[in-house]
Amino acid sequence: MITCTATAQAVASDLAALLDEPLVKLGPDGSAQAYTDETVRSDERVVVVGSTTTSDANLELLERQERARERDPAEVVTVIPYMSYARQDESFQKGEPVSARAVGKAIGAGTDRVYAVNPHNVAILEYFDVPAEPVDAAPLLADPLPNDLREPVFLAPDEDAVWLAESVREAYGSGHVDNFEKLRHSATDVEMDSGDKDFTGSDIVLVDDMIATGGTMSEAIGTLTHQNIGRVVVTCVHPVLATDALSRLNQAGVADIYATNTIDHSVSEVSAAPAIAESVRA
Ligand code: R5P
Repeated sequence: MITCTATAQAVASDLAALLDEPLVKLGPDGSAQAYTDETVRSDERVVVVGSTTTSDANLELLERQERARERDPAEVVTVIPYMSYARQDESFQKGEPVSARAVGKAIGAGTDRVYAVNPHNVAILEYFDVPAEPVDAAPLLADPLPNDLREPVFLAPDEDAVWLAESVREAYGSGHVDNFEKLRHSATDVEMDSGDKDFTGSDIVLVDDMIATGGTMSEAIGTLTHQNIGRVVVTCVHPVLATDALSRLNQAGVADIYATNTIDHSVSEVSAAPAIAESVRA
């Protein structure tokens, strides 16, 4: 049985179809409806799927776990398509809490194991206090790419995203990987060092784990505008796309923007469910 938060309905529905397990539907008010015709056998597990895009969504995930445990299954498995607290994985300024640890401990207390899709830093998986594994949905981002990309460069905006760009390149089957260097001055202010790299004649696929304000991707595109390149496609796993991020990217001249459905958004063209199903089945 699969149950989910309101923030993860699309990916949970895809996962239920792939695992061929019933999905507890949400009522019109977002609450989980009583699932009268399905009971959980003592040898079955319940999979709770929740993207913690907001504090409310985080609480909702804890409530779903609690309800799952009440059914007395063999195991409660928690899938976190997107964990919004993952970037606060250390105390960056004196006095700041390590939010990823606080949230990880709370979620870990309500489950037997955790799968987190492309957490910003895999080190946070330690915080759950139960077995926790990452799920890599990045290769799926190659699916919607045009087949006719010209000498494609899979470009990471910083070193941390190079392995993601490599995943997408490998799944696409051709092209090469490169990266810029990013200096972050604040949550909204980033500086991009392109190192005078020349991508003349290439189509560019920018790859990152997430797009939040769009600052990183906009800066990366800005360094490319003087070059005689082809199409620029922007892709990421988690489309946080806060405030005016999408219009910033569109104004920067990208040909296409797409992401997975770890967060439901108009650009969520790719379902992360196949990658999750593979991990949960293993
Ligand atoms: C940070 O290191 C992440 O990998 C992303 O690059 C970052 O979260 C993107 O944020 P923004 O869109 O606000 O620049």
